[in-house]
Amino acid sequence: MSLLEVRECTMRFGGLTAVKEVTLDVKEGEIVGLVGPNGAGKTTTFNVISGYLRPTSGSILFEGRDVTALPPFDRTRIGMVRTFQKNELYGKCTALENILMAHHLACGGWRYGNALVTSSLSTGSRRATEREALSKAKEVLSFIGLDHRRDVAARSLPHGEQRMLGIGVALSTGPRLLMLDEPVGGMTAGEANKVIDLIHQVRDRGVTVLLIEHNMAVVMGISDRVYVLDHGEKIAEGRPSEVQTDQRVIEAYLGKW
Ligand SMILES: Nc1ncnc2c1ncn2[C@@H]1O[C@H](COP(=O)(O)OP(=O)(O)OP(=O)(O)O)[C@@H](O)[C@H]1O
Ligand SMILES: [Mg+2]
Repeated sequence: MSLLEVRECTMRFGGLTAVKEVTLDVKEGEIVGLVGPNGAGKTTTFNVISGYLRPTSGSILFEGRDVTALPPFDRTRIGMVRTFQKNELYGKCTALENILMAHHLACGGWRYGNALVTSSLSTGSRRATEREALSKAKEVLSFIGLDHRRDVAARSLPHGEQRMLGIGVALSTGPRLLMLDEPVGGMTAGEANKVIDLIHQVRDRGVTVLLIEHNMAVVMGISDRVYVLDHGEKIAEGRPSEVQTDQRVIEAYLGKW
């Protein structure tokens, strides 16, 4: 069974059809790429999958369950987590605090207000929960190679490390499906290689990955399968080697690769 199914999703903004009847699926353990020229509808598709946008028509299934009407937060709690094309970190907070906050959110600590949740716990169990959260946050920081930046404010980190921290924030929620929107955007080649290694490690830990990527060499190198969008429509799908030689894909990208 597919972990994620997008069934004939359409997203219109007024007169503009940003995504048109797109169908795709992602199976457990896969790394799937979503590519296409600027404005093809990739981020809009992510917004629909992650619940930031309600599709004009069509549906989203996660583990066979229809989640089309589920808010983003509830999707995160069932294991659907995404990163953003632009960083959404808390700039004044440290790297560790950013990870801790995401962990708390995913564990429901703040959803009903801190006071409510913490007052229902004894001091002892609250401390144990906090210790466990801290230890998990440190593990994530170490996994993304930023333990040496633990106490640095997110906004003071170089761009590549901010992007990496964004991935760490997503990982700290314990995703089953990790959706990455241009994870190597604006990175140096060295930084991009680190992210590619990290994506492989994430998959080796049992997390399924759906990624949007502009850099064709990156996406073709890393993905098991690829979907190509152009003007909101799916124009090709298949293994990277198949898609790269597809005439419609070549035309869509002509002069852009
Ligand atoms: N909230 C919105 N309101 C109106 N139009 C939008 C909105 N979001 C996206 N669009 C439009 O939908 C189309 C697809 O945009 P989208 O951001 O999904 O493309 P993309 O493939 O992610 O592009 P890029 O590679 O530049 O990130 C574009 O024409 C964009 O201007
Ligand atoms: Mg985009």
